[in-house]
Order: sequence, then C-alpha cells, then structure tokens
Amino acid sequence: MSINRFDERAATWDEDPAKTERARAVAETIRATIPLDPAIRLLEYGSGTGLVSQALQDHVGPVTLADSSVGMLEVLRSKVAAGTIADARVWDLDLSRDPVPDERFDLIVTVMVLHHIPDLRPVLRAFANLLEAGGRLCVVDLEQEDGSFHGADFEGHHGLDRDDLATMLGIAGFGEVRFEHCYEIARPQRTYDLFLATCTRDAKSR
Ligand SMILES: C[S@@+](CC[C@H](N)C(=O)[O-])C[C@H]1O[C@@H](n2cnc3c(N)ncnc32)[C@H](O)[C@@H]1O
Repeated sequence: MSINRFDERAATWDEDPAKTERARAVAETIRATIPLDPAIRLLEYGSGTGLVSQALQDHVGPVTLADSSVGMLEVLRSKVAAGTIADARVWDLDLSRDPVPDERFDLIVTVMVLHHIPDLRPVLRAFANLLEAGGRLCVVDLEQEDGSFHGADFEGHHGLDRDDLATMLGIAGFGEVRFEHCYEIARPQRTYDLFLATCTRDAKSR
C-alpha cells in the first residue's frame, strides 16, 4: 500500500472496529508500560486519525499529532476543532525528508508507521533529536512477517526485525531497547503479531 492510499482511507478509518480496538489496546499497553503524567509533552508520529492519542490524552499533557497524509491531516484538524482531541496541534511532517522541527518532547509514540518507511535511519535520528535527554520512545509495529500483510507491490518492510531495529535505535542515540508482545491482528489467512519497543533517549549522546 502506498502512502497515498492513506488519503483515501482517512475519512472512514475510524469506522473500522479493528482499527479502533487496536488503538485502544495499544494505548492500554503503553499506559501499563510507561509512567505517564500531565507534564508529558507527547508527539505521536504517523498518528493517522489520532486514535492512539485520543486514548492517551487524559493521561498526558500537550499532544502533537504528526502525519504526512493529506487525508489524515484533514481528519486530525477536524477532530481537534471539534474537541475530540483537546489541547493538541497538528503537524504535516515526514521525517524521512523534512527538516527536524526545533521542538522537544518527553514521549514519542509511533504505531504501525515505521514499516511503511523504507529508510528508517533519518527518522530514528530525528526522534532522538526531538526528545529531551531521558525522554522515551514507544514503537508499536509488525513483527517480521512473510510479506502477506500488505501483499505484492508494497514498498515498505515485511514487518521489522527486533534485532535490526534495536541496532538502528542504538546508533540513533537510544539506550537499551525492551520488546514485548503488544497485540495480534487476526486475518483470515493468519494472524500477525505486533511488538511494543520502548527505549530512552541517551543523555550522553546529545
Ligand atoms: C497504518 S497507519 C497507522 C495510523 C495510526 N498510527 C493508527 O495506529 O491508527 C500509518 C500512518 O503512518 C503515516 N505515515 C506513513 N509514512 C509516513 C511518514 N514517512 N511520515 C509521517 N507519517 C507517515 C500514514 O499517513 C498513516 O497515517
């Protein structure tokens, strides 16, 4: 699926109970794993329609929602205007090609985004630059799979290998990466596992 397909799917994204249930469950696992408080400045990267931040917003401080899909950004802006996601701002941002904004966050969450991005290195470096020293990164993504999740012509990754991701995160400036099972997506042909990877912005490498 190319990124443009997200534009087409944005308006009806929240009508799919599989998407809303996944976001709710992922947010619950993040809450159980990371201490949250109202002082935390949250960046959700590749937020789509903002479902994960919707579920986290009562447990954190100001929220920034970033995505590169015009359709998703439109949905986000109308949700913020309607107060569905309060105290939030919306960024049109693709860290694989855009300059890194001169801002700092305490927590970055990114859910089912990274496997869509062919070269993760600039994005992970940007995450490290955007986080305060000691700030946390939560990556929820597909475990490595056989390519059937997206099917033919998909230009991203067939899931992410845990060791490869941990190595890339270390190079980008993060400390030890902890992985845990996070969620299972059931499809008729098979199920797909999602992991939650958590790590902390290394103070030494800033
Ligand atoms: C599978 S959706 C997940 C949306 C949301 N995180 C969720 O869990 O419901 C992937 C999202 O990542 C966004 N995305 C893909 N590549 C991106 C990039 N390079 N920069 C920013 N957003 C990107 C897409 O536009 C889409 O909204």
